[in-house]
Amino acid sequence: MRISVGKGHVAQSGAEVSVLPVFEGKDFLAQLPFVLPLAKKRAERFAQAQDFSGKAGQVVVLPSSDEEGPDVVVCVGMGERQRGGDTHAAREMGGHAVQRARALGFRTIALDATGKEWNIPMIEAFAEGVLLADYAFSVYKQKNGEKCLASCDIFVRDRSLVAPVRKVLENVEAVIGGVTIARDLVNIPAHDMTPERLSEAAMEIAKASRGDIVVRTLDKEACAKEGMGAFLAVAQGAERPPLFIELAYTAPRGAKETVALVGKGVTFDSGGLSLKPADGMMTMKCDMAGAAAVLGVFAILAKLRPKIHVRGYIAATENMPSGGAIRPGDVVKTLAGTTVEILNTDAEGRLTLADAMTYALREKPDVLLDLATLTGACMVALGEEIAGLMSNHRGLAKQLLTSAQTAGEKLWELPLEPRYKETLKSDIADLRNIATTRYGGSLTAGLFLEAFVPPETPWAHLDIAGPAFAEKPLGACLGKGGTGYGVRTLWQFLQDRSGKSGAFSKR
Ligand code: BES
Ligand code: ZN
Ligand code: ZN
Repeated sequence: MRISVGKGHVAQSGAEVSVLPVFEGKDFLAQLPFVLPLAKKRAERFAQAQDFSGKAGQVVVLPSSDEEGPDVVVCVGMGERQRGGDTHAAREMGGHAVQRARALGFRTIALDATGKEWNIPMIEAFAEGVLLADYAFSVYKQKNGEKCLASCDIFVRDRSLVAPVRKVLENVEAVIGGVTIARDLVNIPAHDMTPERLSEAAMEIAKASRGDIVVRTLDKEACAKEGMGAFLAVAQGAERPPLFIELAYTAPRGAKETVALVGKGVTFDSGGLSLKPADGMMTMKCDMAGAAAVLGVFAILAKLRPKIHVRGYIAATENMPSGGAIRPGDVVKTLAGTTVEILNTDAEGRLTLADAMTYALREKPDVLLDLATLTGACMVALGEEIAGLMSNHRGLAKQLLTSAQTAGEKLWELPLEPRYKETLKSDIADLRNIATTRYGGSLTAGLFLEAFVPPETPWAHLDIAGPAFAEKPLGACLGKGGTGYGVRTLWQFLQDRSGKSGAFSKR
């Protein structure tokens, strides 16, 4: 979709749909352009009959009575007008507008952003909503699925706003481009989304970066040589070979920090010999959503080249049952040297992550983040829309919560309760891969990972099991399927960090 900005009037754009934000509690009629004065009363009655009052998320479509102007006015409720604007409402508004325009068969929309509440962050959020909602995944459909929009024109009040908004729109396109890559990677079924395909995606991203991003892959033998016993234990039941994928983005001069991103890359999680029930397996192609988010971020790095070094690590494999699969009760040696008794082969993510994190730590990053669809327990705790955050560093946790909020992704902190470490003690090895209790499953998974991080390294773990994959639409911008959760938060975080001189406030 082409998204553009200009000064002027929506009527001049030639778009079929004029998107009209309507605030609650204000005179509805006064907010209506493109409707002849005589028709306004009728429009108001029409809106009233549909209970439209400008509440956030309400939509009503009015025919435009301006011969020259758009065909229809799609009025979208923004809720109460807020001082300084409400980016959440603007993002959702963009989503609703696209959904309705598409449902009506229109392909071109225009937004009148000349009102005083339309500052740059509001316009940015609207554009994000539009681009997110215009996603469609129809590669596996015989008929080419839903029609996406062709264009979205945004009209601002002042000529001086055009250049900065244009810059912002370019950034939004790059960022949502990254989210789209992550969504596609998650949506592609597991028979096609193999470790090899993940590595190909990484290489494509590197190619587009023209040298800023370098990718290296380690095959099974190379991983064995390194000593990645935990990762390979998960991979040993699969017929398709595992791959360890490493990405390195080198920033332009002036970058002070290196952030390491580790993404869980289980391309299908059957549970292994601790087999999942059929219902629990249905969405398990999404178990590489952490890896997809990391790749999405690298796609953005390639385009926007921020001043911060970033490394990415993905231990990619399937988790399958077979005669060669790891057995419950087996003991493996991790890359860190720690031995782990594997009592449940379905708790495989932490095993792959432990080795990937140990490997990542060799480069001594300033910050280590991992993203993983790690526990069903996190969905029990926080539901389908909110990811869990655990960290050994207060400042880092706070920064991530702020980044997530700015990005419009929901994140909530959970504790790494030291007393629960007890539950991970094994009778015959250093650790067991599941706790002795089923309570607090996300926390004990987090504590397992923490055992592989030196306390002086700021580290945070995002359990994205809930929001990575939408079984029902998530708000107005994200339909069913992969959501690309994490890409926007991580990007916001990297941007915030690259602006700062690096270090956090005290632990
Ligand atoms: N990939 C799953 C977690 C998951 C569940 C992600 C639902 C997305 C949606 C993970 O590997 C897993 O199976 N975890 C187990 C851990 C248990 C065996 C301790 C779980 O959550 O049941
Ligand atoms: Zn599992
Ligand atoms: Zn898993």
